Amino acid sequence: MLSQNMEEKLNEHTNAEFYSAHLYLSMSAYFKSVDLLGFANWMQVQFEEEMSHAMRFFEFVDRMDGRVKLTAIPAPPVEWENPIAVFEETYKHEQTVSKSIHDLVSLAIQENDHPTNNFLQWFVSEQVEEESTAKTILKKLRFIEDSKSGLLMIDQELAGRVFAASSDESASA
Ligand code: FEO
Repeated sequence: MLSQNMEEKLNEHTNAEFYSAHLYLSMSAYFKSVDLLGFANWMQVQFEEEMSHAMRFFEFVDRMDGRVKLTAIPAPPVEWENPIAVFEETYKHEQTVSKSIHDLVSLAIQENDHPTNNFLQWFVSEQVEEESTAKTILKKLRFIEDSKSGLLMIDQELAGRVFAASSDESASA
């Protein structure tokens, strides 16, 4: 059983994950518009990951006898100056998501809510990955500066990303 406060905060975070999905899909559309299809693929996979994150929260709130409440999702940006600007925003966004997860963990501890704390621990690890991946791509983009061939090499690399639901995720579904 979730406290009312925890239910509200989990719902807020569920909606934030849907916003993340929206944001990355918009970034994918931007990359398509500038013919960087590997980057577009990477962002589409990121969109699918965010949808799976949102659904983890959705299922958890429901399993805990809470009530999922969806809200309107704010419109994401449509244009960016260049790929670096996209990954600067991605990295910053993931840091914000990590903070939201950490705040939820603190609340769960404060409320002695062990099931929610346990559920959130997967996300604590996932956010370390999310931040690290975004930072790595950002560093590569900064490294190549204005090199078109460097950009195409990264584009090729990102074309190989595929969405894979984690086994932990299928177990919790
Ligand atoms: Fe669901 Fe990228 O955090």
